[in-house]
Amino acid sequence: MGELDGRTALVTGGSRGIGRAVAQRLAADGALVAVHYGGNEAAAAETVELIAKAGGRAFAVRARFGESGALDQLFEGLAAGLAEHGEPGGDGGAGLDILVNNAGIHLAGSIGQLTEEEFDRLMAINVRTPIFVIQRAIPLLRDGGRIVNVASAATRIGSPVQIGYTVSKTALVALAAPLANELGRRGITVNTVNPGVILTDMTSQWTGVPEAMAGLESITALGRIGQPEDVADVVGFLAGPQGRWVTGQTIDASGGTFLGPIPPA
Ligand SMILES: NC(=O)c1ccc[n+]([C@@H]2O[C@H](COP(=O)([O-])OP(=O)(O)OC[C@H]3O[C@@H](n4cnc5c(N)ncnc54)[C@H](OP(=O)(O)O)[C@@H]3O)[C@@H](O)[C@H]2O)c1
Repeated sequence: MGELDGRTALVTGGSRGIGRAVAQRLAADGALVAVHYGGNEAAAAETVELIAKAGGRAFAVRARFGESGALDQLFEGLAAGLAEHGEPGGDGGAGLDILVNNAGIHLAGSIGQLTEEEFDRLMAINVRTPIFVIQRAIPLLRDGGRIVNVASAATRIGSPVQIGYTVSKTALVALAAPLANELGRRGITVNTVNPGVILTDMTSQWTGVPEAMAGLESITALGRIGQPEDVADVVGFLAGPQGRWVTGQTIDASGGTFLGPIPPA
């Protein structure tokens, strides 16, 4: 018996990277997982297949965030997938237990380099979309449900070359406390997980450079770069029954990146 048996989950951006690991973790714990993706159908299908091979249940849902009609597409796909799997959410009633807002984009740039178009895109995908995904999900969420937003440790670190990204993720962090207050009486928790640098497609440009890897490792207390599973396990905890008493919080999952100077050995 998994601790999420009988539960349903929607993981946005579940096709690759951190979202895939989250989808796998929730499915391993027993949840039926809707694996959302934006365009990479093959990656989403692979996630679903990996979950099925491990004995779990999942289905893929496509919606290109930032394009008109994306939220309708997401929730129609969710309802259809739940119905196919015999879940009550499929008929439009309450039927979702866990929502993980993980899909996001990263655009590097200093204040001098940032364009209005880039900033609008960051805000559209990283902030506007999760807000309205949550708005649409609330009527579907069963009491005792979970919302986890994936932001970034960039919100703490203050990197001058990620200004638009940092602002967008900081806005996402700001969602948890007011929503926790609104939804708490229904036993629904709302939290944020802030990953540090994690080995995914998003970071492959610089994690492929040995000097950059060494630099990142040297400023990380645990002395290595994170894997998607390092974040998925934190999300899994918050999404599961053991996370019931944590709400409105931001959890740093960076292996202790940039905590301060590391004393010489
Ligand atoms: N990797 C890191 O070091 C790191 C650190 C801190 C925070 N984060 C955050 O963690 C989350 C996941 O990051 P990741 O590294 O796993 O990213 P990733 O490997 O680039 O995967 C991104 C995921 O989001 C989906 N996505 C991207 N743009 C989309 C759009 N316009 N519409 C719909 N779906 C879209 C992708 O779908 P497709 O597969 O269909 O393209 C994919 O599933 C992001 O919010 C990111 O900001 C990552």
